[in-house]
Order: sequence, then C-alpha cells, then structure tokens
Amino acid sequence: MTGFSTIAYIVAAVLFILSLSGLSQPESAKRGNKYGIYGMAIALIGTLTLPQVHSFCWLAVAVVIGAIIGLRKAKKVEMTEMPQLIALLHSFVGLAAVFVGYNSLILDTDIAPELQTIHLVEVFIGVFIGAVTFTGSVVAWGKLEGKVKSAALELPHKHKWNIAALALSLLLMAGFLAVGGSTFLLFLMTLIAFAFGWHLVMSIGGADMPVAISMLNSYSGWAAAAAGFMLNNDLLIVTGALVGSSGAILSYIMCRAMNRSFISVILGGFGNTVIGKAEDYGEYREWKVEDVAEALKDADSVIITPGYGMAVAQAQYPVAEITKFLREKGKTVRFGIHPVAGRLPGHMNVLLAEAKVPYDIVLEMDEINEDFPETDVVLVIGANDTVNPSAQTDPNSPIAGMPVLEVWKASQVVVFKRSMNVGYAGVQNPLFFNENSYMCFGDAKATMDKILAILKA
Ligand code: TAP
Repeated sequence: MTGFSTIAYIVAAVLFILSLSGLSQPESAKRGNKYGIYGMAIALIGTLTLPQVHSFCWLAVAVVIGAIIGLRKAKKVEMTEMPQLIALLHSFVGLAAVFVGYNSLILDTDIAPELQTIHLVEVFIGVFIGAVTFTGSVVAWGKLEGKVKSAALELPHKHKWNIAALALSLLLMAGFLAVGGSTFLLFLMTLIAFAFGWHLVMSIGGADMPVAISMLNSYSGWAAAAAGFMLNNDLLIVTGALVGSSGAILSYIMCRAMNRSFISVILGGFGNTVIGKAEDYGEYREWKVEDVAEALKDADSVIITPGYGMAVAQAQYPVAEITKFLREKGKTVRFGIHPVAGRLPGHMNVLLAEAKVPYDIVLEMDEINEDFPETDVVLVIGANDTVNPSAQTDPNSPIAGMPVLEVWKASQVVVFKRSMNVGYAGVQNPLFFNENSYMCFGDAKATMDKILAILKA
C-alpha cells in the first residue's frame, strides 16, 4: 500500500458508511447515493496507485468497456426492472469472487508456510460463497424477469440435497487443506456450490423472493469481503463486510415484516412447501371510473394502497394529483405501504416521493392497519398479494402468515387492475369477490387520469 492509497481507502470507507446511512431514509437517499459514487471514484483512484498495478493499459480497456455497458444499461433500465438489474449485479460479484479465488490459488505461490492454511481456507470459502451467490442471483434474475417460474421448485427430499451439498463441500475442504491446495478439488466444490445456489433460490416461492434478494445482496457482500482477504485489499474487506451485514440486517427485517423464519428462508424455504389450490369465490362486482369518482366525492376518509401495478403503469403522478385534489376538498387521504409491495424494498416510497406526495401521509402497514375499519374508501392500485386476506384465513396458502394490509375492513374497496389475474405469488385473491369490493379494470395510469378528469370537471 502507498501512503496515498491508504488515505484514499480510509476516505472511501467513511463515504461508504455515510452512503449506507443516507440510503436508509427516502429524504436522504439521493445524498447517500452521491456519497457512494464519490467513495467508489476515490477507491478506484486509490487502487490505481497500488504497487501491484504495473500497467494501466489493460485496466483502462476494462474500465472503458465496463463504463460503456454500465452507462447504457443505467440509461435504459426502467424503475420496474431495477430488482432484476440488482440481482444480475450480485451475480457478477459472486463470479468475480470465484475468479479471484482461482487466481489466488494458482498465482500466489510465495505465501509464508505458517499462513498457507489460512490462505487456502480463504480461497475455498471465498469460491464457495461466490459460486452460491452467482447461480442464486442468476435464478433470482430469471424469476424477477419472468424467465423462470416464480413458484417454488419442489424436488423430492430437497432439504437432504442441501445438507448433502454442504457436507460434501466440507469433505472436499478437508481434502483441499490436506493436500495443500488442489485446483481439481476446488473445481469439484465449485460445481457443487453452483448447484447449491441454484437449488436454494429455485426452491423459494414468489412471495418470499424479497427475502431471497436481500439475502443474495448479503451473500454478495461476503463474497466481496472474501475476495478482499485473498487480494489483501482492506477496502474490499470493509466494503464487503458493510454490504454483507447490512444485507443480513435487511433480510432479517424483511423476514420479521413478512412473518417468515429467517433460517427457513436462507435454507431454501424450509417448511414452506404448501401450494395454493384454486377455489371458487363466486362473482365479483365491477365499477366504472364514474362510480369511483362518485364514491370519492362522497367519502371523508380515503386510504390508497399501491402495489407493483402502479409502478408498471407509472400511475403515481395522477394518483398524486388525485390526492392533492381530495385533500384540498378537506378529505383525509393517506397511503398504506406494505413492506414488500412492488419488487424492491421501498419501491412504493420511491415512486410516491418522485410524484411529490408528502412524506407525512405515507404510512407503513403497521401504522395504518388499525384505521381501515373507520375508512370510507380504499383504493387498491395495482396491488394484489399485499392485500390478500387468505394470508390470514387459509393456512394452506403460499402466503399464509404473511402480514397484509387489511383493506377489506373499510366500507368500500376499489381494486384497480387490468384483469382477474393472480399476483406475484400466483394465488387468487378472495378480496376481489367480497360484497364491499369493486373491480375497476384497465391500465392504472389511464384509469387514474380519467378519474382525475372527472373529479376536476
Ligand atoms: P403483485 O402481487 O405483484 O400484483 C400486482 C398486480 O398489479 C397484478 O395482480 C396485476 O394484475 C396488476 N397490474 C400489473 N400491471 C398493471 C397495470 N399496468 N395497471 C394496473 N394493474 C396492473 O403486487 P403487490 O401487492 O405489490 O405484491 C408484491 C409481490 O411481489 C409480493 O408477492 C412480494 O412478495 C413480491 N416481491 C416483492 C419484492 C419486494 S422487495 N418488494 C421483491 C420480489 C417479489 P393484472 O395483471 O390483472 O393487471
């Protein structure tokens, strides 16, 4: 390390910590992002001054190619595609850790004998975590992109397969250490870890994907930290540990919010093998936009519960205008946000902030759930699983036990979606067939635009 790179790494590490703290609140998220960008730029410059860097030529080629791909992707990506992109980026971190591990085993031949075992353990564990993260993240990307079915894969004896993969990897590690490092044994373990990562995420059902994504985020951090040990790079260790621990905390928070056991989800949906069965819930009632506008005019209190469909339709702007209009008429309008609404943590908060909905009327599920019985009208905009009462009433449902927004307790519930299709977890929603529920079909943005026009007229 040079003096300059040491200082650069310390400054970058502090900026990364400030970045994480900024990202914890919507108000400070932009600032947090900027700290992250500055930190990464400083870290890159610091790395270029390391004595190991002999030629800038190859690095420049890699940076230019990476920057072009990254810029193109960032400009093209829709907000609704962010989770897939994040999953893909996690997979790169995992794959990088695998390459670093092999590189370290093959090229680092001048390790002091007393440090040899530690080095081999670092390599083995780093490659294992990296390989699990890689295939797990690729499967997560496929599930979010709709290329892989979101339902949980149910292989016979699936937990035994997981345990066998772990046991075999431990055996290989013992052999790997005994022979003082072997590319062949490392390669065998890599294949097992690839299969293990694939199976772990394949066996997680749609409704539990939020936890899987934050868990893979955590794994990618640990993979980066492991790469940091192999490369003897302190900043990579610190950054990896920051990402790993914050991802683990996020996974834990999401598990609690969804009433899921952390251990069961990280072990691949342990005990979550029930499949929902199709049921006949009877007839649903339909409302036109004029009926919705009329109900809103008559209501004193309104709660809006948005979901993934609002993000797809980009309906947050007319929704924000309807909110403003109704509030100006003296009505109480608030938003109820489910912790896993949409496809990434905080998805709805970001959209509503973008449309300039005041933060103080955007409430978390726990803060608003008790208020539904006293509410005149609830607008469910493109949400489905997060307002599904069968989570409370049907122990055989794949979302059984997951806390939901209890919208059905309000006097009237209007559900905006395009069809009677199921939500992400693949289960039908009995809410749509309740006597006080009304379906308003169509693209959420077009529908909201029409309702706004009627209200204003
Ligand atoms: P979902 O259950 O995904 O349902 C969204 C609904 O929006 C669909 O039923 C769809 O019905 C409707 N929709 C789609 N496009 C629309 C459009 N243009 N206009 C109007 N409606 C539209 O939504 P949710 O309630 O937000 O629940 C989220 C689900 O995703 C949960 O199961 C959660 O576990 C999972 N998940 C969440 C995350 C995170 S971190 N938030 C990550 C991965 C998975 P139509 O097709 O009939 O229109």
